[in-house]
Amino acid sequence: MDGSTQVHVRNHDLLADALAGLTADEKTLGPKWLYDHRGSALFEKITRLPEYYPTRTEAGILHDNAAALAGLVPSAGALVELGSGASVKTRTLLDAGGHIGAYVPIDISRDFLLETAAALKNAYPALDVVPVVADFTAPVTLPDALAALPKAAFFPGSTIGNLTPARAQALLSGVRAWPGIEAFILGADMVKDISQLIAAYDDAQGVTAEFISNILVRLNRETGADFDLNAFDYKATWNADLARIDMHLVSNRSQQVTVGERTIPFYAGEPIHVSAARKYTTNSLTALANSTGWDLHDCHTDANGRFSVAVLRPGG
Ligand code: SAH
Ligand code: AVI
Repeated sequence: MDGSTQVHVRNHDLLADALAGLTADEKTLGPKWLYDHRGSALFEKITRLPEYYPTRTEAGILHDNAAALAGLVPSAGALVELGSGASVKTRTLLDAGGHIGAYVPIDISRDFLLETAAALKNAYPALDVVPVVADFTAPVTLPDALAALPKAAFFPGSTIGNLTPARAQALLSGVRAWPGIEAFILGADMVKDISQLIAAYDDAQGVTAEFISNILVRLNRETGADFDLNAFDYKATWNADLARIDMHLVSNRSQQVTVGERTIPFYAGEPIHVSAARKYTTNSLTALANSTGWDLHDCHTDANGRFSVAVLRPGG
């Protein structure tokens, strides 16, 4: 030992990703690292906030179109959900889809996924519930027993909007190539009045700020970094050119943070870009579908056009 402090790094992937992002000219951290058990629970709290309209709006659309949407899952086939979280909305489809043979929730938040899957097994004893811990920004491989089943994919929440356009396209193309895929039910939040968007991503109770700051909590705990949480403020902005909300943590003073073996300097006011939430129009959704081998077969919206649940079918 040379007397220097030894830091125990539990999560080498997180450390490598964070160092790449924090040493870039414009500092970034990836949104997938927001979701450990605490992050998943904080997101569930966001879904119940008065300002966060997407969850309740999408849940209403699913409720109003439950039979038609559940009917997209082939008989005795599988419903495969990407970024399933607490699988709350999924229950609407499962309740209307007694013919569904298997439910495959895919999520990166391992413990939260396994807890959710256990609760679903209890609630739906006749359903084969097969949780898959995976990162959907890489190609997803389904378990052999399910790979051959006819299936429909479900990607609610507008989580698609948290992916870069290239990653969103890669995900849709990847699902299009799954054997037996017959439909893709895709939830997408729509472009709207900026004040509603900002309020949804900067709530009065500060739950979104806590959720986004969870990435620093994880970096400290899982890589031994020494971020002072009080030295970063949360900020949400609307980028009209890219049609997206950008979520930042802004250094509120000049400071240095130790991450792994690096010292990362911050100037006062310097942002770390943590997450983006892209918003769609019917045109941009259609373009996304068509560029990835899908046809926009149907698009269910609420009365105010805030959110869309698109039905994609394999295209030519
Ligand atoms: N589908 C739910 C939850 C959405 S929150 C709803 O509509 O309310 C986004 C979910 O995607 C979280 O559960 C998170 O853990 C998961 N997630 C985020 N990035 C992921 C990734 N790269 N791979 C797999 N799951 C991811
Ligand atoms: C999961 N996803 C769709 C959420 C969103 O609206 O972009 C994540 C979130 N980030 C901040 N608030 C909610």
